[in-house]
Amino acid sequence: MAANWTTNAAKTATDDLNRHVLQHSHNYFINRFAGSVFSKQRNVISAIEEIVPDFLWAQLASFVSFLVTFILLWSVDSLSAMLFVLLLFILLVVNKYLAPIKVKLSKISSEANTVLTGRTVDTFSNISAVRQYAKYKEELEGLENLTNARRIAHRRNWFFTEKLLMLNIFILFIFSSIMFWLILNKWEDGLITSGDFVMVISLMFNISGSLVFIGRAFNAMARTVGELREGLDDLLVDYEITDSENAQSLNVNKGKIVWQDVDFGFGDNQVFTNLNLEIPAGQRIGLVGSSGAGKTTFVSLLLRQHELNGGLIMIDGQDISTVTQNSLREAIAVVPQEPALFHRTIRENIAYGHPGATQEEIMAVAKQAHAHEFIEKLPQGYDTLVGERGVKLSGGQKQRIAIARAMLKNAPILILDEATSALDSESEVLIQGALHNLMMGKTVIAIAHRLSTLKEMDRIIVLESGEVVEDGTHDTLKDRGGIYAKLWNHQSGGFLVD
Ligand SMILES: Nc1ncnc2c1ncn2[C@@H]1O[C@H](COP(=O)(O)OP(=O)(O)OP(=O)(O)O)[C@@H](O)[C@H]1O
Ligand SMILES: [Mg+2]
Repeated sequence: MAANWTTNAAKTATDDLNRHVLQHSHNYFINRFAGSVFSKQRNVISAIEEIVPDFLWAQLASFVSFLVTFILLWSVDSLSAMLFVLLLFILLVVNKYLAPIKVKLSKISSEANTVLTGRTVDTFSNISAVRQYAKYKEELEGLENLTNARRIAHRRNWFFTEKLLMLNIFILFIFSSIMFWLILNKWEDGLITSGDFVMVISLMFNISGSLVFIGRAFNAMARTVGELREGLDDLLVDYEITDSENAQSLNVNKGKIVWQDVDFGFGDNQVFTNLNLEIPAGQRIGLVGSSGAGKTTFVSLLLRQHELNGGLIMIDGQDISTVTQNSLREAIAVVPQEPALFHRTIRENIAYGHPGATQEEIMAVAKQAHAHEFIEKLPQGYDTLVGERGVKLSGGQKQRIAIARAMLKNAPILILDEATSALDSESEVLIQGALHNLMMGKTVIAIAHRLSTLKEMDRIIVLESGEVVEDGTHDTLKDRGGIYAKLWNHQSGGFLVD
């Protein structure tokens, strides 16, 4: 029974936690180590796995044995029975009073563990930087400091537990002595039979054992609660971004995007103030601006990865904060600045844009994205695993997979954030052709530092410190002699000749 209950509880809890955590906002994950989130989740699950049998065996079973003991004691000597109840009461009060401290210490100890896990996973994920900068020793020292902090937290927790147990045993000893003395006197006075005397003594032995046992169980419970709290406090925080109550699905028929008085910043870092911009349906715009100007943030806001501080963004007349996030994101295909690949096969990575796509469809987009050539050469072709975050692929190969994925998604709005930045000029020219087809009939926002890739766009917008400083076609801006013209001259005179 316990096995069933425990495994079921663990499964339900894991599923529920995953359901909750997977829907946390972009910010939630940015602000935490993936390893820490995972560690908290694991702490919670292992706590649940302990708490169920703990409760079933220790608490429930002890309760029954106490009841039986009380009845038997009462039949022999009511005073002993009362003393027994008093003992239980005192133990309960003492433990109840001290349990919160135990919970707190367990939580601290659990936190130390989470910090260590987060840092360890961070180090492992960036192992190439560690190697390139020859920082093996420094990283190890950093981890050793954390393992030491964890050791100290564990030890404090453990010592407290020992003291608590000693206190319990001490109280138990006093009561047992009193009861023994009482019963001994009664027996000597001939008030109870030898049989009764033996029974009470053996009962006392028995409950002493189970009281020590329950003290331990109580402790374990307090520890488990501490662990649960450490994990749940952070995993179950409210979502930063939620669908509004009567959220409808976004209905995109044309793909007109309007930014109206948009105000947004990361804390004190104000990125957009009163931004107004209208992108007509089907227009292809090129977004240009120096690093940190707010281009990626612009895209994030359109995807509603952050909540605006003021103003609104509308797609085909619908405020994106009033439609469901899923429908919003289904309408937008993104090729991000840093493509996110899963450690799954190339086929699965491409099909992520459209689950259920056939092999023909996958191959067709791979060909368009000029990924087919290199995929064919991989040992297992489309079934090759790409390594965590795609580490087994080159930067340009990753980008081509990400482009193929976005092509397969075939959403009415397309965002390209430096989508071809890692490609050599030749592949870039080839892919531009494919992208040209992909952009047809879609509203497109393409971000690029290499301006030659934006020449074909209907309109260029230059963003500087979150403000639109130039707005026009490539030709008009080139002739205007502003920022765009300067950048253009730089690039065509410098490393890039179109
Ligand atoms: N998650 C974040 N938390 C806090 N600040 C952020 C966050 N993301 C971006 N920023 C800040 O917002 C500003 C705009 O960043 P953004 O990534 O939009 O620039 P960008 O124009 O895309 O630059 P690049 O051309 O280098 O990609 C920068 O000052 C950056 O430091
Ligand atoms: Mg960017």
